[in-house]
Amino acid sequence: MRLKGKVALVTGSSQGIGQAIAIRLAKEGANVVINYRSHPEGAEETLAKVKEAGGTCHPIDGITIKADTGTVPEVQRMIAESIDYFGQLDILVNNAGIERHADFWEATEADYDAVLNVNLKGVFFATQAFVKYLMATKRGGKVINISSVHEELPFPHFTSYCASKGGLRMMTRNLGVELAPYGITINNVAPGAIETPINTKLLNDPEKLGSLLQNIPMGRLGKSEDVAGMVAFLASSDADYVTGSTFVVDGGLLWNYHEQ
Ligand code: BGC
Repeated sequence: MRLKGKVALVTGSSQGIGQAIAIRLAKEGANVVINYRSHPEGAEETLAKVKEAGGTCHPIDGITIKADTGTVPEVQRMIAESIDYFGQLDILVNNAGIERHADFWEATEADYDAVLNVNLKGVFFATQAFVKYLMATKRGGKVINISSVHEELPFPHFTSYCASKGGLRMMTRNLGVELAPYGITINNVAPGAIETPINTKLLNDPEKLGSLLQNIPMGRLGKSEDVAGMVAFLASSDADYVTGSTFVVDGGLLWNYHEQ
């Protein structure tokens, strides 16, 4: 119960990695704000599991908030509503993310904007709204961004996605420095190939899946819970002296290289 008495907001927590993070933080004792854009039923499922997570001894509260995290006024409203409901906010997990596949020369402006808005601009302004609140109330806080191994590693045909994650990497390094004097830490978690809805196409293509698995030294895809464990650590006081860094959760994928 490392997060007893804390409130955490997890964006994009109606499914996948975000859902697992919300549940894990609740198991650690935090009350949780569940954000979703287009899956209210998924958000309700997360909420039910969050409430269950505390058991009877440590009842956990949660709410769901609909907001498009690619839109600045929406992320500002999401942060304000979270604080209004719980009277405090201690942990922001910027998890919502999207990707669009295209050859570089075919990529559209609409897809570029969608990816950059959710993966970078929304994170920037959600974090800004959270930081303004922390500074105004003289509280410390923790920001955790769900990035990707692709903040480092090329991913051909996903250039907008890589650009967004590379941007997130520098945003985190920069804010690690700028926010440290205020007791606010910020870190990235960089998952590799995790079994989630963002990968549905790949998971249903045995040939592509097979060659991906050959690139993963641990020989399996990651689970959302593998990522959630790292987030729980970074959200806790065990990580008070940790900021501006990226933590890779990828079964060894990123630095895997073999010569036959
Ligand atoms: C992407 C997945 C991809 C994985 C490993 C993730 O960031 O969202 O589509 O399979 O990286 O390459």
